[in-house]
Amino acid sequence: MNFLEERIVKDGIVKEGNILKVDSFLNHQMDVTLFQQMGEEFKRRFADKEINKILTIEASGIGIACIVASCFHVPVVFAKKSKSVNIDGAVYVAEVESFTHKCKNQVIVSKKFLHPEDKVLIIDDFLANGCALQGLISIVAQAGATVEGIGIAVEKGFQQGGRIIRNLGYPLESLAIVDSMDASTGTIVFREQN
Ligand code: G4P
Ligand code: NA
Ligand code: NA
Repeated sequence: MNFLEERIVKDGIVKEGNILKVDSFLNHQMDVTLFQQMGEEFKRRFADKEINKILTIEASGIGIACIVASCFHVPVVFAKKSKSVNIDGAVYVAEVESFTHKCKNQVIVSKKFLHPEDKVLIIDDFLANGCALQGLISIVAQAGATVEGIGIAVEKGFQQGGRIIRNLGYPLESLAIVDSMDASTGTIVFREQN
């Protein structure tokens, strides 16, 4: 097990409905020393990429993305969620459906902060169905920029997002991939990775 998998086993809580609670260290209270380790691991995994910008989505991706940006010495931009946007041409917009919350959001990034020459590393805390990620990929495409990589803290490997994104050819690195979990026993099975 790697450092993140170990932490998930120690402090993560498996809830009914295949929900993994990690709010004591990842997305409510945040262990920034752990985030630093994650940032260094992403730096290692994407060492062959020339990355000049980190892109994430509010809310819980922001903390991790900031530390990752610090490791890469590049700025970080977060996509904003809003129910309805006055589309005046100054922003890139993507529609993102949340299965967990059963709602649709528009996510926006100002055209000021993404340009065709940008080489982007997308960062997020969770990958489940991949809707948020597909929205971010769409925004990078609208800017004419390039997705150099995608770094995820926790991928739920039994949901479809990871498979879809990898099939599209994107370099996707998840620090922990949960292949199955059991709320009654608290058991978590991780996918073997190199
Ligand atoms: P998707 O973007 O991969 O399609 O995710 P989905 O709609 O299934 O999930 C909606 C939200 O729930 C996302 O956060 C996602 O990160 C989060 N999520 C999904 N599965 C889990 C889980 O097992 N545990 C935890 N803790 N979160 C999970 P969000 O609502 O879009 O953003 P945020 O404001 O929380 O950052
Ligand atoms: Na979340
Ligand atoms: Na998130």
